[in-house]
Amino acid sequence: MEATSERSNQDIVQNRFARDSDLTISTNGPQPPTVVQFGANDPKELARASTLVAPYAGGVDLNCGCPQSWACAETLGAALMEKRELVRDMVIETREYLRRDGWGVGKERDVDNPKGRSVSVKIRVHKDLRKTMDFITTVLGPSQDRHIDWLTIHPRTRQTPSSTPINVEALEILTTNFGDKVPILLSGDVFTLNSLPFTSPLLDPANTPTLTSKSITTDNVEKKKTPQSPLLNLPKLSGLMSARAILANPALYAGYDACPWEAVETFMSHLARAPLPFKLVQHHLSEMCAPGMGPNKNALLSKPERNAMLSCTNMVDLVDFLDEKAREKGYGDEFGLRRVV
Ligand SMILES: Cc1cc2nc3c(=O)[nH]c(=O)nc-3n(C[C@H](O)[C@H](O)[C@H](O)COP(=O)(O)O)c2cc1C
Repeated sequence: MEATSERSNQDIVQNRFARDSDLTISTNGPQPPTVVQFGANDPKELARASTLVAPYAGGVDLNCGCPQSWACAETLGAALMEKRELVRDMVIETREYLRRDGWGVGKERDVDNPKGRSVSVKIRVHKDLRKTMDFITTVLGPSQDRHIDWLTIHPRTRQTPSSTPINVEALEILTTNFGDKVPILLSGDVFTLNSLPFTSPLLDPANTPTLTSKSITTDNVEKKKTPQSPLLNLPKLSGLMSARAILANPALYAGYDACPWEAVETFMSHLARAPLPFKLVQHHLSEMCAPGMGPNKNALLSKPERNAMLSCTNMVDLVDFLDEKAREKGYGDEFGLRRVV
């Protein structure tokens, strides 16, 4: 779900090299929807950057969550949580520019329109949740014509480290108050579908046709509902976004609680068609072959094996290494990648 690429709006508008290097799309057949996320603090800049990427993306998102000090010092990311009128003006201007360029910005009305483009915002929460409620109220605008298509909430404050569990109570209050007005997505601690720190109708396979039989079952949810830790139910949550866990297990939304070898194979075969820099390939593979973020700590490769993988210096050696490990461990077929490249 989190197929985003964050870039400063200024870079995108002013620098063609930044545009080309940071936004690369496949022209090979229909592509999955991609949302381009910007760090921005000026309505016209965000609006212009959005019109430049609109031909190549399904929507644009504004990052109001990045806590890094350099970003906040430039009034980007989480610093925008103190600038709700500015954020409102940025999304209004962006929708207006997109509309003028002929894109469909009618939210639900344009979901199936090939020219439909979304405008959304990703936020953190404040220590005083009333400030977050004011922020959302301002950014949403009128209920008959709200300013954004959806809202992603990362229920931690700017100061909360990501090792601290998300604030589920805050998420419950916000989804209860705003979940009927705008689709709300959660970003944070989505580690596996059967270890979420809340219950939700989203996890009912009957409501989520894309989840497979390996998905969460009611059994799994029931198991977590112990008297010691009653889980909150979030009936108005509309979607989930994962960052750290999906790096380690890209099959998370297919219902796997640890990365299957098949995901490694799929990644490698995609690489044959759409190459990535070698170091990036190694980084993704070492995430995928290590223990994931959820309770299942099975790893596809041991630490020494991952180190050996990282010591490969080229793609051919890496493919040989993975083939050998797959054979050793009985992980399915060889990649046959050398036959492709
Ligand atoms: C490697 C990495 C890159 C991230 N990049 C972005 C980003 O560009 N924009 C953003 O809004 N959040 C970004 N985040 C934050 C995540 O979207 C997310 O809010 C946070 O990691 C908590 O979710 P998680 O528990 O699923 O990791 C990033 C996180 C990680 C680990």
